[in-house]
Amino acid sequence: MKHKILIAYFSHTGYTATLAKEIADLTGGSLFQIQPVDDYPEDYRATLDRYKEETAKHLRPAVTGSV
Ligand SMILES: Cc1cc2nc3c(=O)[nH]c(=O)nc-3n(C[C@H](O)[C@H](O)[C@H](O)COP(=O)(O)O)c2cc1C
Repeated sequence: MKHKILIAYFSHTGYTATLAKEIADLTGGSLFQIQPVDDYPEDYRATLDRYKEETAKHLRPAVTGSV
């Protein structure tokens, strides 16, 4: 049986996106970027504050696209 490979990734700065693309090249897998409908701020502290609130409240922010 042939397996399908999905590389689902979230990248805020672009670093993880580069690695995900490299993994896709090496494995022949399909890339899927997990992207929030409401983008995280550029500012690190602001992103951290939002992350903390989302985690504390068990929020599941909407993402664009679907697999
Ligand atoms: C707001 C936010 C939420 C994240 N949530 C997850 C997560 O649920 N699971 C996970 O493995 N990594 C999560 N990460 C880490 C990212 O996938 C990624 O490893 C990190 O942002 C560093 O890569 P980058 O420099 O490309 O942004 C999160 C990062 C941020 C900024």
